[in-house]
Amino acid sequence: MAYDPLAAFRMHGHAAIVTGGAQNIGAGIARAFAGAGARVMIADLDGAKAAATATAIAAETGQEVRGMACDVTKEGDIQALVAATVAAFGGLSTLVNNVGWGGVNPDPLAVTETQMLDSYKLNTISAYRMTAACVPHLLQAKNPSVINSGSFSSAVPAYDILAYATAKAALNQMMVSLAHALAKKVRVNSVLIGTVITPGYAAAGIDAATQERMMHPDTLTGRPGTPEDVANAMLWLASPAGGWISGQTINVHGGGGVVRLFGH
Ligand SMILES: NC(=O)c1ccc[n+]([C@@H]2O[C@H](COP(=O)([O-])OP(=O)(O)OC[C@H]3O[C@@H](n4cnc5c(N)ncnc54)[C@H](O)[C@@H]3O)[C@@H](O)[C@H]2O)c1
Repeated sequence: MAYDPLAAFRMHGHAAIVTGGAQNIGAGIARAFAGAGARVMIADLDGAKAAATATAIAAETGQEVRGMACDVTKEGDIQALVAATVAAFGGLSTLVNNVGWGGVNPDPLAVTETQMLDSYKLNTISAYRMTAACVPHLLQAKNPSVINSGSFSSAVPAYDILAYATAKAALNQMMVSLAHALAKKVRVNSVLIGTVITPGYAAAGIDAATQERMMHPDTLTGRPGTPEDVANAMLWLASPAGGWISGQTINVHGGGGVVRLFGH
């Protein structure tokens, strides 16, 4: 039989949770994993949308994909999610902490403590709690790994979105520490995502002209990213093909750019 290097990217035998997987980047990750052969649980604040997305991906890929409501900032919801996933799939090999988001901070010196704490709860602490809840099951799986949806903004000056970028920077540190705490047992990585324009940008108060600026025409690729661009990197990291990668932040951002919303 001919050598098939793509075989290492297949995820048969894997069971994954993708948080925030009802739409956009998370849905793209769930679709890539299922398309590669994994069973996937989509967990989202919007349970109905999670279920609808799961049904669509299952129909497209022929894999078992489920959706359920879960608020990853609530410990009870996290425990229920992990229990339901293990009950459905008989185990858990892969966790993608994809939930995250933040508004703009036009005045970087006027971010309130509440805004900062809310950002940490959503972008950082939820990923920590999800990881802690999943580890006992990951330890029993083959090729177990955790991947975080990080942000390029965590690694460059990003004062227009200070609360978000700060929380995502903490996520990077948490990822490295957990990768070492789980050395030789569970791989832990983060993808630092660049600009993937979604309806969430307008909802966060970023107008069309600013979105245009954020598409980074000056990046090495000259275009905004897509959920598939991110999902392809996640598939590499989660699959056996990524088996020698742990404790890393992987930039998937079109080749660089500057987070500059308001042109200070
Ligand atoms: N879109 C980008 O340009 C971009 C850039 C860098 C990083 N990221 C990161 O990628 C991830 C996905 O981004 P996106 O643009 O697809 O986001 P999105 O807002 O389109 O989708 C996020 C999903 O998470 C769900 N969600 C929100 N709060 C939740 C909670 N408490 N519990 C469970 N589900 C919750 C939402 O219902 C939604 O379905 C985020 O972590 C984001 O910070 C995105």
